[in-house]
Amino acid sequence: MDGLKIKFCGVKFENPLILPSGIITEIPQHFRAVNAGVGGVTLKSITVKKREGNPLPRMWKYDAGLLNSVGLRNPGIEQSLVQIKEFVNLNKDKSKIIVSLYSTKIKEFVSLARKVNLLKPDFIELNLSCPNTEDELGRSLGMEKGGAGKVVAAVKKITGKTPLLAKLSPNVTDIAEIAKSCEISGADGIVAINSAGPGMVIDIKKKKPVLGNREGGVTGPGIFPIAVRCIYDIYKAVKIPIIGMGGVTKWQDVVEIMMAGATLVGVGTAVYFKGMGIYDQFKKDLSEYLTENKIKNLSELVGIAH
Ligand SMILES: Cc1cc2nc3c(=O)[nH]c(=O)nc-3n(C[C@H](O)[C@H](O)[C@H](O)COP(=O)(O)O)c2cc1C
Repeated sequence: MDGLKIKFCGVKFENPLILPSGIITEIPQHFRAVNAGVGGVTLKSITVKKREGNPLPRMWKYDAGLLNSVGLRNPGIEQSLVQIKEFVNLNKDKSKIIVSLYSTKIKEFVSLARKVNLLKPDFIELNLSCPNTEDELGRSLGMEKGGAGKVVAAVKKITGKTPLLAKLSPNVTDIAEIAKSCEISGADGIVAINSAGPGMVIDIKKKKPVLGNREGGVTGPGIFPIAVRCIYDIYKAVKIPIIGMGGVTKWQDVVEIMMAGATLVGVGTAVYFKGMGIYDQFKKDLSEYLTENKIKNLSELVGIAH
């Protein structure tokens, strides 16, 4: 499957398939994705303090995907550091490791990145895309270009050679402008998109919203056209590479999102519906597609729709 090998920020990936952040919660459990053959695995976003998450139920399947309001449930940085260290050692470079960080404050983002960087992950990803985050000025960090750029610039100063990725939300007026600001501030790559919405589903018998938190991020096939458009716009605006995700459910979606401009492709919610075997199936299908169409390497598709 040589045609699937691809470089991203100078790092060689065996294939372009990525487990997005949060699809698996516990750090040791991320090995399920490594064993399923993903090119890269993104760990659940880590915060400074432990977070229990939102009230149950936190996930709801609907006709075109999933609603989730996990609320960044994680054990906090200190316990996570121990688990990440173990994970990096056991992984032995089988899949590339992307550590995702989340905060509401620039200072905290810097402190998280400093600690995680010592463990030498392949990438650090800044989750700038929670619609409820606020910076020291009281505004959301990743929802406008100024905030996103400030976080990237501050973290970039201390991450050295570790490539830094900025993960963006589709719930903004101009995602390309925010991506551009991240690039100017020193981001090495863009990850898009995080969940859309938030959305709500109401149980008409109970006459109440189904989620404990009432509303939650929307993921899965329903958001795929939004993801394709966002990636298309970002590709036009920046020179740094993109990890595209959001509703990828079929191997054809992988091709489509690469044509829009993504170099690597996250497959998250589809795992809940189709299981971890989806990664192997996609690899087989993509290899066949390359042979049938006499394409040497998937990288030839990146941005070809422009
Ligand atoms: C249950 C669940 C939890 C998530 N948690 C995170 C998270 O902690 N950090 C993050 O950056 N994105 C998180 N996401 C968003 C995904 O990483 C991804 O951007 C989104 O689901 C779109 O891709 P998909 O449609 O293939 O799932 C989560 C998504 C789901 C479904």
